[in-house]
Amino acid sequence: MSTRTIRPRRSTLAVPGSNPKMIDKARGLSVDALFLDLEDACAPNAKADGREIIVKSLNEGGFDDKIRTVRVNDWTTPWTYRDVVDVVEGAGANLDCIMLPKVQNAGQVHALDMLLTQIEKSVGLEVGRIGLEVQIETASGLIALDAIAQASPRIETLVFGPADFMASIHMKSLVVGEQPPGYDVGDAYHHILMSILMAARAHGKQAIDGPYLAIKDLDGLGRVAGRAAALGFDGKWVLHPSQVDVVNEVFNPGQDDYDHAENILDAYDWCTSEAGGSRGAAMLGDEMIDEASRKMALVISGKGRAAGM
Ligand code: GLV
Ligand code: MG
Repeated sequence: MSTRTIRPRRSTLAVPGSNPKMIDKARGLSVDALFLDLEDACAPNAKADGREIIVKSLNEGGFDDKIRTVRVNDWTTPWTYRDVVDVVEGAGANLDCIMLPKVQNAGQVHALDMLLTQIEKSVGLEVGRIGLEVQIETASGLIALDAIAQASPRIETLVFGPADFMASIHMKSLVVGEQPPGYDVGDAYHHILMSILMAARAHGKQAIDGPYLAIKDLDGLGRVAGRAAALGFDGKWVLHPSQVDVVNEVFNPGQDDYDHAENILDAYDWCTSEAGGSRGAAMLGDEMIDEASRKMALVISGKGRAAGM
């Protein structure tokens, strides 16, 4: 189990790394995290400029306490090593994580971990501080999930990439995140989301849901984000400022649940302190509270406290 301190990531904003204007706009948004993209939102002939823009922007700062990530290109391209070397040598001290897309096996994570370690040693950065976010967005990535999730102590998140995943499994739909027409026997994403969540929880990582592309459909966004939040996911990507509030709200616990969680924790404290530690369970109204209730309450109260409730 990893011992890294992982900050809340209700919302993660995707920002094209080659667009200084959008990077500047991102600085002022109330997202928990953002990533500057050198992969799919950065055209092949804009990658070199993108690296320079990203280094300059990270070093200029202004991102408050947002988690700052850079998404590099995947290992099957010619760009990955240059993305990592340029960005980490140039701005490693002002960077929290590298995001690796289309991760297919644990070896791809090892390779990035080793490259990062060499750069950190070479330029005098604290070894191991830069974290990893790994995108699960191919059939092979899903099958290798367990090995991928424990491939490096740097890993902070497992991120579902619905668009690439739908392409990878030949899903008969073009509407990212929505149910494929004709599949009327349940949620077509349930197995994928649940698998990612299980691997994340088994190995102490955050589980993050990917983008919802219909940026004008805030109801649809709320519905899809709500499904991931209900399962236990920690957050979701946002692609546009209009999506930020919806996603932050969905991943906050409801006020009633938060108050209830705090009451459970108080009742359980009573068991272990005022009752002299002699009781394993207590009553809260009609409800029996025990150690398992305390664990569930800690999750909800932790999310609420992080959101300033
Ligand atoms: C994100 O990278 C996705 O493919 O959905
Ligand atoms: Mg993708």
